[in-house]
Amino acid sequence: MHDFNYNGKELYCEKVPVGKLAAKFGTPLYVYSHKTLVGHFLKLKKAFSDIRPLICFSVKSNSNLSILKALLERGAGLDIVSGGELYRAKKIGADAGKIVYASVGKTKEEIRDAIRAGIFLFNVESLQELALISEVATVLKKEARVCIRINPNIDPHTHRYITTGTVDSKFGVDLDTARIIFLNRENFKNIKFAGLHVHIGSQITQVAPFLAALKRISLFIDGLRKMGVPLEWLNIGGGLGIIYNQERPQTAEGFAAKVVPILKKIGLKVILEPGRFIVGNAGILVASVIYVKDTLAKRFVVVDAGMNDLIRPALYDAYHEILPLVKTEDKGRKSEDRKKTDIVGPICESGDFLAKGRDLPLFGPGDLLAVMGAGAYGFSMSSNYNSRRRAAEVLVKGDKFYLIRGRESFDDLVRLEKAIRL
Ligand code: LLP
Repeated sequence: MHDFNYNGKELYCEKVPVGKLAAKFGTPLYVYSHKTLVGHFLKLKKAFSDIRPLICFSVKSNSNLSILKALLERGAGLDIVSGGELYRAKKIGADAGKIVYASVGKTKEEIRDAIRAGIFLFNVESLQELALISEVATVLKKEARVCIRINPNIDPHTHRYITTGTVDSKFGVDLDTARIIFLNRENFKNIKFAGLHVHIGSQITQVAPFLAALKRISLFIDGLRKMGVPLEWLNIGGGLGIIYNQERPQTAEGFAAKVVPILKKIGLKVILEPGRFIVGNAGILVASVIYVKDTLAKRFVVVDAGMNDLIRPALYDAYHEILPLVKTEDKGRKSEDRKKTDIVGPICESGDFLAKGRDLPLFGPGDLLAVMGAGAYGFSMSSNYNSRRRAAEVLVKGDKFYLIRGRESFDDLVRLEKAIRL
């Protein structure tokens, strides 16, 4: 599942002791395994090899240039959602012909830049957006390829904040609206209607919601075909769940075994947009213990990483496993020392926790711990709240390691600000 394992009492990333990286680069520190990252991409590619889909890595899950580059080199395309992500893609020379662009709020400038860059297609989320893309493409005298993002109204049974395919969410258009758009396709100048897009949510651990969505889409496609609408592509989004705790998500092969036959029947070329499945378990967040605080209610282990570094526990009550970098039992501590523990950050909010009520060995000041499964939506959602500098990021490959993002400096924090006296 990943390449963070104990070798004796020490946690390693591939062939490098994580403690060595913490000593060299400091904490909080994101550490990624190249092998896990690339391995997950290749697993998916292999599972779907029968239909050879275009796999567009979802940049929002982890947008570090070196992470993107590692995947591009193995043939990945990119799923972007902003001008900033397009900028990153261009920066590393990504093949624009493999870039798909979703987002409910693409601005005119973003649309213009994306058309100029020659991206493969837009995943269109509203009628107004489609009209704007048509307008911009016409001015630029280019043709813009689009997939219409369908909101199939299927509940993916995941956290409500990451549910996107139900009727009460802001994403995509309902089937009737989509049908009307396709039937009036001649009215949209300089638009090439390529097909459909669907993404019902994230961290989906069951295959059933995917199958339900595909069934609905498949009937919809039948209807369009009967009306003579030509379609070429079906983008089935991302959303594959991973193991954080006790989840039993579908494997790539298990997932493919269920959906490939349906996709073959539908007969369109396929795009996938996975993020978390590829990078989630390929990264950890390393933190140092500052204090251990036994209160009347419980034990708090205060670490130097907080909700600004990893917001998932605070925002979604997400579970991330906590592992000591050096197994503490081996330091002569007894099992009685285990106590229900909250791992908390230094930020001035009670929601600032990385783990709650865990059965953990006694950590002491200076001990190091790893927050597992932090590769997706970890660094990419981090912030400077409490004027904290964002963490450094290191990529490990075998026995080598590379600093792929330096730690921010205090100067970085105020670089764009002015102290104006009025
Ligand atoms: N495609 C679209 C259109 C998306 O909106 C997303 C994610 C993906 C693909 C990739 O989904 P994935 O394969 O990673 O599930 N911050 C949340 C997750 C937000 C997902 C947003 N959209 C979290 O930390 O759980």
